[in-house]
Amino acid sequence: MAAGLGTRGNGPREQISIDPVTGEKTVVMGDLTFPPRKVWMKTFGCQMNYHDSDRIAAHLEDLNFTRTEELDEADMVLFNTCAVRDLSNNKFYSQLGEIKHAKKKKNGLVVGIGGCVAQTEGKELVKKYQHLDFAFGTDVIDTINDMVFRVYAGDNKFTINSWDRSENFSIETKIPVGSPQAFVNIIKGCNKYCTYCIVPYTRGKERSRLMAEVVADVTKLVKYQGIQEVTLLGQNVNSYGKENGESLAELIMELDKIEGLELIRYTTSHPYDVSDELIAVHGKAKKLSKHLHLPVQSGSASVLERMHREYTPEHYLGLLDKLRAAQPEIVLSTDIIAGFVNETEEEHQETMDLLTKAQFDFIYSYVYSPRAKTRAAKMEDNLPDDIKGARLREIQAHQLKIQDKIRQTMVGKTYRILVEDFGNMGGVKKWKGRTNCNRIVHFVPVNDEIDMKWHWVDVKVTSATSLSCQGELIADLGKRPPSLLQ
Ligand code: SAH
Ligand code: SF4
Ligand code: F3S
Repeated sequence: MAAGLGTRGNGPREQISIDPVTGEKTVVMGDLTFPPRKVWMKTFGCQMNYHDSDRIAAHLEDLNFTRTEELDEADMVLFNTCAVRDLSNNKFYSQLGEIKHAKKKKNGLVVGIGGCVAQTEGKELVKKYQHLDFAFGTDVIDTINDMVFRVYAGDNKFTINSWDRSENFSIETKIPVGSPQAFVNIIKGCNKYCTYCIVPYTRGKERSRLMAEVVADVTKLVKYQGIQEVTLLGQNVNSYGKENGESLAELIMELDKIEGLELIRYTTSHPYDVSDELIAVHGKAKKLSKHLHLPVQSGSASVLERMHREYTPEHYLGLLDKLRAAQPEIVLSTDIIAGFVNETEEEHQETMDLLTKAQFDFIYSYVYSPRAKTRAAKMEDNLPDDIKGARLREIQAHQLKIQDKIRQTMVGKTYRILVEDFGNMGGVKKWKGRTNCNRIVHFVPVNDEIDMKWHWVDVKVTSATSLSCQGELIADLGKRPPSLLQ
């Protein structure tokens, strides 16, 4: 039997043994044995949460868990929850209800919840739902194995949602094997306290990783793990580094120097923290994506004030002008909240106007959803739900017309994309990837036999709609970073 030590930090360390005949791995940790098991995970919410789920899954590999898409074969079910709107909340609650039956069918099925709902309501939920074994908050995911160990040791019905009080935010990025794309967390939390938003309560105070750590992390990912594209993640990435006298602009310029790294994206940004230095970087950094998602929320100065966004529509549009001057090819997108507390028809029309002026490539738009604890939830709201819904539909219809026109300008042009996946579109197999500026392009393979996943290809756009583009393959450059091919 070959034995080795695992790599975890706290708690009992695991010992791994491999059966020389079957090759089956068994992990022994303290008094417990962990045979191969399967975890089924359901993630709601933002990219941060999806990234956290990947991180949790990577930790769980040390306890012999592999991820499954089939609920039936799961030994453990984990929900990574989102509290940002009622809709995501409700979807989670209905699935949590369904899992009750799965637990009845399978003896020993472990059920846990993490993420933003668990951070604020974990304790109550564990008490309320008999079939829920444990809950864990957003700041303790790196200790997931200790919690799972505790459950398998027979000590369940607990919640851990303490905040990490350490001065620095320091982690090492964990990535799914085989993918050249990595999400790299650079800042956590949010200090902005927009009046409608639950995030500061579910993710805590802003804390940034040191620039030297991020640069070393990304260099390693590129050199040893084949990463070619990174997305820098945070709830408010452009306030990155403030507490350490560092900045996102500087970080991007440093990452831009890494050989073999092809593309840098970052998400998501608050307009207040978009500095002139950062705008200039959009013109200077060769590897920075020519797409920026900059949530505006509303086109009305009075609504923005009620939201405590700390900028005016004029300031926001001025930022877009400056960004377009620095990087003429930049593609911009945004988030809009329709029907915020007591929004008047005039205020709503100001948002419609802003959409016309801004010419966004796409938007995410939502009806305002009051969240407990937030300041907006305490404001008296006289706007009926049907008007909120109608305004959302009006915003979306207006934007679709705008983006349909923008997308038509792509037809006939050739774009370089990293192929991410394929899908069946109306019975036809098509590969799919995103342009540097984050637009999805589908194309039909010339040869069905070739697996083009993670190839860089040049694709000429042949037709476009407001939501996607169709193209034809011009050149297949293979998997190597194109910048190293010359
Ligand atoms: N940090 C980012 C956004 C994070 S939340 C920013 O400041 O822009 C993602 C989006 O969800 C927000 O941009 C907002 O449009 C939406 N959102 C947040 N709280 C909401 C609420 N209570 N109701 C409706 N939409 C909300
Ligand atoms: Fe929420 Fe505002 Fe923070 Fe964005 S900046 S996460 S909208 S509080
Ligand atoms: Fe939702 Fe939490 Fe992200 S509330 S949007 S999962 S930060």
